[in-house]
This record gives sequence, structure tokens and C-alpha cells, in this order.
Amino acid sequence: MGAGVAWQYDSGMNEILVLYYSVHGGTRALAESIAQGVASVPGMLPRVRTVPRVGAVVERVEPPVPADGPPFAELADLQQCAGLALGSPTRFGNMAAPLKYFLDQTSALWLSGALAGKPAAVFTSTGSLHGGQESTLLSMMLPLLHHGMLLVGLPYAGQPDLMTTRSGGTPYGASHVAGADGGAAVSAEEQRLAFALGRRLAEAARRLALDPDAPRP
Ligand SMILES: Cc1cc2nc3c(=O)[nH]c(=O)nc-3n(C[C@H](O)[C@H](O)[C@H](O)COP(=O)(O)O)c2cc1C
Repeated sequence: MGAGVAWQYDSGMNEILVLYYSVHGGTRALAESIAQGVASVPGMLPRVRTVPRVGAVVERVEPPVPADGPPFAELADLQQCAGLALGSPTRFGNMAAPLKYFLDQTSALWLSGALAGKPAAVFTSTGSLHGGQESTLLSMMLPLLHHGMLLVGLPYAGQPDLMTTRSGGTPYGASHVAGADGGAAVSAEEQRLAFALGRRLAEAARRLALDPDAPRP
């Protein structure tokens, strides 16, 4: 299919699922920049979703539809997407339980290989500068690799912010340092890198989708 030709798969196949969990808004702010980066690629759209909190009695914690913000994700969102941006606050150097809980319900998709060959990227928000951004980002990649997803990061080439940032922003994925009180605004470097990650992910998905009959990588 040539450049400039409109292309569209079945429901959602030109959409990047931007799936995140956020309590204080740091991860959500990154998700918004990533979604803008996705939307900057012709023909690609973000589908923004979140996951509910979990507790000892999970069914009673949240109503089926959140009071505000994006809808809760369903497994169909993963099935239908052309790519995935997965975001979580750092919790003790790892992803937050609500996101892990959602991923732990994806066995059927894993069995069918529904996500195999789709591109994915990860993002996180921490309280402190050295509080585990890289460990969180790398550990978030593990279940995605089990699903056969193709991880997309950020290259130093073309992203000078990676070398100069004094806040977040890594080659492993987008990140934000929210500070001890969680109130720090997303810095210009963090915002640009999150946008670039969304754009790169959408470009990868678009390239992979250009020949849907080719064997999946
Ligand atoms: C249980 C818990 C564990 C946390 N662990 C870490 C950590 O390991 N490193 C860190 O820098 N911040 C840690 N934080 C702080 C959050 O990562 C930080 O506030 C983050 O910006 C929250 O993201 P959000 O604004 O999207 O909710 C922790 C917070 C909580 C509640």
C-alpha cells in the first residue's frame, strides 16, 4: 500500500492502545503526551484506557465505569490494537499491582498469540530520580516479551534530550520524576521524549501493518 493511501483494518487495527495506571497523575500526563505522539502519525489513533484499583475484595473497589478519565481496558482492546504503550507508576522498583493484575488475566491472548508481532513501548513515573525507573521499565517488558511483542524504545540518535535531561526520559521508555510530593510538572524533556516514543511506536505499528499478509515477526 503506497504512502498517502488510506488504510484501515478491522476495528482498532490502526489504533495504539495507551494503557496505564495512575493515582496522582504523573503516569497519566506521560500517557497524554504519548497519545499525542501516536496521533501525529498519519492514519494512526490512540485508544486510551486505564485499569481499576485492586484490593482484597477486588470486585467491590471500583464501579464498572470510572467516574472520570478514560474507560477501563478490556481484553478486546489488546486483541484489537495495532500496538501497545503500557504505563505504570513505579512501586518499589516495579510496576503497580493493578496493571500486573490486568496483565495476569491475558492468558487466553497469550495462548492464541494475539499480541505476537505487535509493537509495544513502556513508560513510568517515580517519586525520586534514582528510585527505579529503569528497573520498572525493564520489568514491564517481561510479560510483553512472553506475549511475543516487539519492544520499541528511544534511540539516542535523534533524541538529544536523552543526553541532557535532568529529570526523566530513558532509552528504555518514557519516564517522569514526580518528586517526593508527586506534584512536579512534566518537564519539557520528559514531554518531548514521551511524544517521540508515542510517535515511534505508531510508526512501527504502521510499518508492520503495511503488509498484513507477511509472516508475523
Ligand atoms: C507503594 C508505593 C511504592 C513506591 N515505590 C517507589 C519507588 O520504588 N521509587 C520511587 O521513586 N517512587 C516510588 N513511589 C512513588 C511513585 O512512584 C510516584 O509517586 C509516582 O509518580 C506515582 O505515579 P502517578 O502520579 O501516576 O500515580 C512509590 C509509591 C507508592 C505508593
